[in-house]
Amino acid sequence: MSGFETEWLALREPADKAARAPALIDTLSRYLQAMPAPAIADIGCGTGSTWRSLKSHVPEGTSWLLLDHDPALLEEAERSIGNNQGVAFRRFDLNDLQDLPLEGVSMVTASALFDLVSEDFCVAFCDRIVAQGCGLYAALNYDGIIRWSHRHPLDDDMVEAFNRHQQTDKGFGRALGPAAGACLERLLEARGYQVEELPSPWRLDGTAAVLQKAFLSGLRQPLREMSYHSDAEIEDWLAFRLAAIAAPESRCEVGHTDLIALPA
Ligand SMILES: C[S@@+](CC[C@H](N)C(=O)[O-])C[C@H]1O[C@@H](n2cnc3c(N)ncnc32)[C@H](O)[C@@H]1O
Repeated sequence: MSGFETEWLALREPADKAARAPALIDTLSRYLQAMPAPAIADIGCGTGSTWRSLKSHVPEGTSWLLLDHDPALLEEAERSIGNNQGVAFRRFDLNDLQDLPLEGVSMVTASALFDLVSEDFCVAFCDRIVAQGCGLYAALNYDGIIRWSHRHPLDDDMVEAFNRHQQTDKGFGRALGPAAGACLERLLEARGYQVEELPSPWRLDGTAAVLQKAFLSGLRQPLREMSYHSDAEIEDWLAFRLAAIAAPESRCEVGHTDLIALPA
């Protein structure tokens, strides 16, 4: 139901990689170093972006299980990662949370996933990982902030409409959208975990023009559904934003947060 495309995930992967908070990757790395048999379950793995970003930071011999409900993305993950020893793939719908295979898992990882899920999902998920004593590394949770260096009077209205769309059902009930990071932090701290959260915004300039264009094009439908502005105003705003990508010193920031939560 989430309908992510391989091309979109490939386009965003370099920006995601650059945005990940290095301090939290260090914490993840140190935590796994202390494990006798480190094992990671990457949920909502897409084509394997998290594995590619973290593989050189985890101890040699770490086993990985990559899970996604989308067979096309999983197939691409398997094709691109190949038969790297220690990496397994499984088609899995996260709505079947009670069956999430966490036996022996030291750390659950996820990227660009938790803004899609509901608060009820988060509660049930946190209960499951706490019961198993697994850590959580959840990166690139959209936080609702989008800023452009070259301003347009409708920027705030459009971001506000997009953020309301981010809270519509993405397959798990009403999505947390920009509230995902804070929700995970609250739930895991309440369960006795040590939680650290850091900003991980995309900071995009003209060299990321293709990503910026795709991102803006992806706003069209959500804005048509949620904005109080007319389709013509939305098109004018998009045309301004697209043209501004090539303007001198043009910058766009899309806010995310990364979070790591470890059993105390
Ligand atoms: C924004 S993509 C992120 C993919 C990958 N983690 C990355 O960073 O490139 C969200 C991922 O969650 C997966 N997903 C969405 N709903 C899911 C569900 N119910 N069960 C399992 N995976 C799901 C999608 O198929 C997609 O791969």
